[in-house]
Amino acid sequence: MGRETWGSRIGFILAAAGSAIGLGNVWKFPYKAGESGGAAFVLVYLLCIAFVGLSIMIAEIIMGRSTQLDMVGGFRKLSPGSPWFLAGALGIASGFVILSYYSVVGGWTLAYICKAAAFRFAAFHDPAEAGASFERFTAHPVLPVACHALFMALCMYIVARGVRGGIERWNNILMPALFLLLLALLVRGLTLPGAGEGLAFFLRPDFSKFHWGRTTLVALGHAFFSLSLGMGAMFTYGSYLSPDVNVPRASFYIVLLDTAISMLAGVAIFTAVFAMGLRPDAGPGLVFHTLPVVFTLMPGGYVFGVVFFVLLALAALTSAISLLEVVCAYFVDERRWPRRTAVLRMGTLILLLGVPAALSFGPLAGAKIFFGRTFFDFEDVLSSNYMLPFGGLLLSIFVGWVWGADRAVEACRIGNPRFRSARLWAFAIRYLAPLAVAAIILHQLEILPRVGALLAGGG
Ligand code: TRP
Repeated sequence: MGRETWGSRIGFILAAAGSAIGLGNVWKFPYKAGESGGAAFVLVYLLCIAFVGLSIMIAEIIMGRSTQLDMVGGFRKLSPGSPWFLAGALGIASGFVILSYYSVVGGWTLAYICKAAAFRFAAFHDPAEAGASFERFTAHPVLPVACHALFMALCMYIVARGVRGGIERWNNILMPALFLLLLALLVRGLTLPGAGEGLAFFLRPDFSKFHWGRTTLVALGHAFFSLSLGMGAMFTYGSYLSPDVNVPRASFYIVLLDTAISMLAGVAIFTAVFAMGLRPDAGPGLVFHTLPVVFTLMPGGYVFGVVFFVLLALAALTSAISLLEVVCAYFVDERRWPRRTAVLRMGTLILLLGVPAALSFGPLAGAKIFFGRTFFDFEDVLSSNYMLPFGGLLLSIFVGWVWGADRAVEACRIGNPRFRSARLWAFAIRYLAPLAVAAIILHQLEILPRVGALLAGGG
């Protein structure tokens, strides 16, 4: 039986952009920018995207397209008999870990659509009240689990329908919807009196709150998460591509769309936050504590509140789909399971794995059994700080040195005979990307900061 492929190039680009655009853009990016000095962070982030993110994106997609397999099978095909297939296995394991907590947050967004629609935000007069309500909800023993299960069920439904009839079809509807909703929010934000201050915060760099080393690493780590790199999501989506597609160009569009959405979300959120006189540095609670208050205070806020949380849920769903697909592709390609069986079994397993994460803010808040962290925090930190960068490091070393940059460039030339930036890309994937990613990992292990302190102290 033939393997599935995308119906069209634009279908692939929208699906890959759907994977990249998610909670990372609308939830994480604005609060990280808010915490790290606004525009200065944004500037560094853009540099990380351009120099490291784009080259790893090309590498992942081209490896998938060349092998036409899941991640484990792909590594095995290009380097038979070596332990490199373990790099693929790491990616599939990351899929499990990320999705089991990502879906919990996805569940929260579903609940917040209902709250917004039921006029619940009207009771919030300041972020403290909204925050307390958020904490009450996430601490509930049943509701967060039920929302997580519902979110996983939606995700499983779409993935079970297959690449073309499920993933591509739904992304073709959900992505334009997301874009329109965001545009509406953007216009609302920009037309509020006092929007200029938020715009300045987000777009005019202020380097006083800025630490080169730490901010750069946060920005780079976030670039990975936001572009869905390091665990084979782009690899797997690339494996459904036909040879005539220009991979470097498609990668450029995907990165551009992801970055554009982050920027639009940043402008929409900060113009509104500043116009309502609230603070930009609320951290992870920015979206759930601060924005409900913004919607209460602003004219037409009811409609925009509902719109915002629908948008957040759609963005999360199209990303979750890609995480589940990575896991299922392995069982379909390597174990010959029928797609539906793979989705049902693995989806259920991830759903169960997510239950302790969903309870991490209530009944299990005290269960800090992993290095003093709750299940939720542990899964988040383990995947974003260690598994993804490590996966990206292995992939860039593999493409640059084992499979070989020359062969990878040849693979890109199918579908893009000229590939004008081939030498630049080969350089980036052999040197720039592995070094940058190694720096993130050393930083996470707290080796780099110590070396830095040592140098500063000694010099
Ligand atoms: N990129 C998504 C976001 O910004 C999250 C995501 C989906 C992801 N698939 C991934 C992150 C694979 C890392 C790897 O929300």
